[in-house]
Amino acid sequence: MSRKLRPETRAIRSTMMTDSNAGAVSVPITLSTNFEREADGSYQHGYIYSRLDNPNRQQLEKSMCELESGHVAIAFSSGMAATSAIFQTLEPGDHVLLPDDAYYSTKDLMVELFGKWGINMSPVNMSVIDEVKSAITNRTKLVWLETPSNPQLRISDITAIADLAHAIGAKCAVDNTWSTPIGQNPLLLGADMVMHSTTKYLGGHGDVLGGAVVLKDDELEELLRKSQQVSGAVPSPFDCWLICRGIKTLHTRFKAQMETAEKLATYLEGHKEIETVHYPGLTSHAQHDVAKKQMRGFGAMLSVQVKGGAERALAVTGKLELFTTATSLGGVESLVEHRKSIEGEESSTPDNLLRVSVGLEHVDDLIEDWEIALN
Ligand SMILES: Cc1ncc(COP(=O)(O)O)c(C=O)c1O
Repeated sequence: MSRKLRPETRAIRSTMMTDSNAGAVSVPITLSTNFEREADGSYQHGYIYSRLDNPNRQQLEKSMCELESGHVAIAFSSGMAATSAIFQTLEPGDHVLLPDDAYYSTKDLMVELFGKWGINMSPVNMSVIDEVKSAITNRTKLVWLETPSNPQLRISDITAIADLAHAIGAKCAVDNTWSTPIGQNPLLLGADMVMHSTTKYLGGHGDVLGGAVVLKDDELEELLRKSQQVSGAVPSPFDCWLICRGIKTLHTRFKAQMETAEKLATYLEGHKEIETVHYPGLTSHAQHDVAKKQMRGFGAMLSVQVKGGAERALAVTGKLELFTTATSLGGVESLVEHRKSIEGEESSTPDNLLRVSVGLEHVDDLIEDWEIALN
């Protein structure tokens, strides 16, 4: 189409394809693992074997590319598989900067697995630019950002840090899971790669695992495609179909969830039983100005520190009725989680911190639930 479409429209159109057999509007799921070869040896439809490519994965990759304004997208079977593929582009002796409060499995993957292969990592508070400057060395090849971070919602300045990385020839990758492409587009802010756990807001209903990397240009395309096809951590056609279905309603869901999260954060900030609220949309948030500069909305995740320590925080999770106590995030139902007990004793997450994923329930019901639980 020659007309320039708005993001909401593009999200829907990019998840549709014309089914040449039946004209189906909802894309069929192509379960076939292998595809027929012509007598001349060619593949009429371009598919050979489902690990290498299949119509549903191609659709999802096209859609992810649209959402993040990228050059190419590469889909994986989970967010961690996508992260792992990015780390696989490194070489022994390379140095990586990772946020000191990065998602704990990202840290684990880098230290426990890639550390053994000679990749060195420095943990950095990415919300303090001077700390980034002093941690960068001439061996640094990758600066990894997670903004907002999990679970303390620190914000890092994507443009400023990407500039620092580029100045020494390193790449900047952003885990954009918490913000989604609706909240911010790291590639447009200067990053080279975006990683998503599509398990979260993109799938949106807590029923599918997935991940994706979107690249700004073709520099790492071949390596990442190789990693996808040869390592084999690929999403099934049904997984891709479910994520594409989630993408169709992503804008509407995420905007509504963000609106509720802002109201809930403001309410909790004023509550006498709450010590601190971590939400980048609050003017009290230490990096609120950076958040305002680079985000279109402040997301639907927040965390709170409850007065009275770990015991009180755990008791509150037991009293909340509309926030299911469970891990993960980004679905239509609200969740709450005591993070420290998930991350382990060595984690720097405060003992009294509860992480909240705001769903699509009515905001007044959610606020009432906290009012009762904190009494
Ligand atoms: C910020 C962030 N990145 C990556 C992941 C990993 O994604 P997955 O569980 O799909 O492997 C998660 C999962 O919670 C996450 O919150």
